[in-house]
Amino acid sequence: MNNVTIGINKFRGKTTVIKYGEKERLRHMYMVGKTGVGKSTIFQNMCLEDIQNKNGVCFIDPHGESIDWLLKNIPKERLEDVILFDPSDIDFPFGLNILEARSEIEKDFLVNECIQIFYKLFDPQKSGIIGPQFEHWLRNAALTVMAGPEGGSLVEIPKLFIDRDFEMEKRRHLTDPVVIEFWTKQMSKTSDFHKSEMLNYFMSKFGQFMNNTLMRNIIGQHKSSFDFESLMDNKKILLVNLSKGKIGEINAHMLGLIILSKLQAGILKRANKESGDRKPFYLYVDEFQNFTTDTFISMLSESRKYGLGVHITNQYLAQLPENIKDAVLGNVGTILSFEVGAEDAEILSKEFIPMEVEDFMNLPKFNFYIKLMIDGKTSNAFSGMSIPPEKSKSSPVIKEAIETFNRLYYGSPKIFVEKIINKNLS
Ligand SMILES: Nc1ncnc2c1ncn2[C@@H]1O[C@H](COP(=O)(O)OP(=O)(O)OP(=O)(O)O)[C@@H](O)[C@H]1O
Ligand SMILES: [Mg+2]
Repeated sequence: MNNVTIGINKFRGKTTVIKYGEKERLRHMYMVGKTGVGKSTIFQNMCLEDIQNKNGVCFIDPHGESIDWLLKNIPKERLEDVILFDPSDIDFPFGLNILEARSEIEKDFLVNECIQIFYKLFDPQKSGIIGPQFEHWLRNAALTVMAGPEGGSLVEIPKLFIDRDFEMEKRRHLTDPVVIEFWTKQMSKTSDFHKSEMLNYFMSKFGQFMNNTLMRNIIGQHKSSFDFESLMDNKKILLVNLSKGKIGEINAHMLGLIILSKLQAGILKRANKESGDRKPFYLYVDEFQNFTTDTFISMLSESRKYGLGVHITNQYLAQLPENIKDAVLGNVGTILSFEVGAEDAEILSKEFIPMEVEDFMNLPKFNFYIKLMIDGKTSNAFSGMSIPPEKSKSSPVIKEAIETFNRLYYGSPKIFVEKIINKNLS
């Protein structure tokens, strides 16, 4: 079963359950509302229902509370399906390598994603902090680092420009003429001064990830702990705990962006599958504005045919960059709004027929308006109420069992990881 409950509707003394249908879910859902109105709770409830219905899901949680709740409610028969990615567990780091690719197409896709991630983190307004020059160097350097049977990771990029043996060893494996020319024609003519200038520039961006043990031990591993294509095909439950307090904001954003890029790379591989083999997979992203790149936006329009249903939420629509706001409103089939401020109410009243601006500004907590897709068509707006989170059903023992299993199965002991990474960097 692939439909889930969003909330309830009360009309003339009759209570009906608001169901979100299987086909409609592939047209995606956006939810907006002020703090404390119950947004995360709706996603938690829906995600748990998906888990109970044996669906594959990924939940990206910037606070950790939703994941904590989900972990305490996982039904016993799904325990083994949970992949719990908690970067703050520094003793058993997972591997998450954005530069790990199986095909040339995937290589190009991921390198492009990498560039977009750097824009998002360091130059979101595209004001020139990261320019075409940096892009060019990063693209060629990343493709070079990935060359060869061993592969490579982001943290080895600076080494390419300071260790001639490493550079030559990597270049031996290059087959792409454009990248080969980058070294033979361009770099050979670049002065040491210019090289070191660019290296400093690289370091000012990579440095904070390279010098941070927690991050280096995750993004510096060549092999990722899990493969997105197979986790979607096998209907796994990927819970991503990006609690900023524990790992730092920029690190949390970086990891979330990498997860989404790799998820998209996995989705795109579904193009080779028969449509019947593309099992639905449901993605929940809380406070999604921190994790959007241009490809994420194009995914909203493309991913339906690959069986991905996306659920995103944040507090203010008006604060989203114009292109993201337009893409969300233009591509999402179902929109749900709790209480919002005047600016958002203005935008939403145009989308929700027959609601007025004031309607959105006076909603009591846990009450919403929804424009729901039903049978492929978007309904007129109607009101609803969310369902409170249930008290946790399972014992803390289940949560601990999942944590222990994940450390041992997907994580690797820190000493072991550091030994390999130090060797790669030396
Ligand atoms: N329908 C409901 N009835 C009663 N309590 C609820 C209901 N929905 C959520 N809650 C409770 O209200 C509180 C706020 O909910 P939640 O964290 O989901 O809000 P939010 O909109 O995600 O806020 P924020 O934007 O700050 O993340 C939580 O303690 C939650 O358990
Ligand atoms: Mg929330």
